[in-house]
Amino acid sequence: MKKNPKGYHMEIGASLLSLPLFTVTEKLTALKEASIDYFHIDVMDGNFVPNLAFNASWTNQIHDAFSTIPLDVHFMTTERALTEIYRSFSSIHPKWMSFHVESVSDPEEWIQKCKQDGIIPGLAISPGTSLTKLVPFLSSVEFVLIMSVEPGFGGQTFIENTYNRIHQMQTYRQEKNLNYSIQVDGGIQLPHITAPANLETDMIVIGSYLMNQEDPVQFLNSFRK
Ligand code: DX5
Ligand code: ZN
Repeated sequence: MKKNPKGYHMEIGASLLSLPLFTVTEKLTALKEASIDYFHIDVMDGNFVPNLAFNASWTNQIHDAFSTIPLDVHFMTTERALTEIYRSFSSIHPKWMSFHVESVSDPEEWIQKCKQDGIIPGLAISPGTSLTKLVPFLSSVEFVLIMSVEPGFGGQTFIENTYNRIHQMQTYRQEKNLNYSIQVDGGIQLPHITAPANLETDMIVIGSYLMNQEDPVQFLNSFRK
């Protein structure tokens, strides 16, 4: 099994953004059988990003049907939209939630709100934003989501500079003796994990590449080797 620098197993999540509409149940069941670690739910408001994605009702149906698989909700919305829809998502009790450092005016307030609701809070950051924006929150946030594509769409190409950004987050964590986990999301394919300079992160999100696999069990096993 692949281990990350903190010494435990990397958790692999499936982004449901690229889920094929006519084989939803089949695909989700196959992912469950392949012991996927979590489902990653992208929430988009057509404002923070130029796309729309999942609402709380749809997410709740997934949770009802696959209750043993934890949910990770990634908000790519304005703070106004987040404020309006937060409660409908928090009441589904996702395990993790992340919101963008570019979108919220007071990240600490959202971090504390999640903690009070028993949800593990994460702070997401887009590829073009300086990592220094995360620094004030790294002692209280539980994970950082390093975007490896511009947020908004599945199936984009992985941005190579992400390796460098992940390395910086690992180094800072070690130097400051902090405990946040590192998640990476966007454009991930098998070579990104198996290459020598691979993604030694705690959590990864895979979308279209995973949905396009004929045999997710075999595919996830090859990731986990
Ligand atoms: C992009 C989303 C990602 C995306 C991942 O804005 O946050 O979660 O769906 O899908 P792939 O792996 O296809 O880039
Ligand atoms: Zn995402």
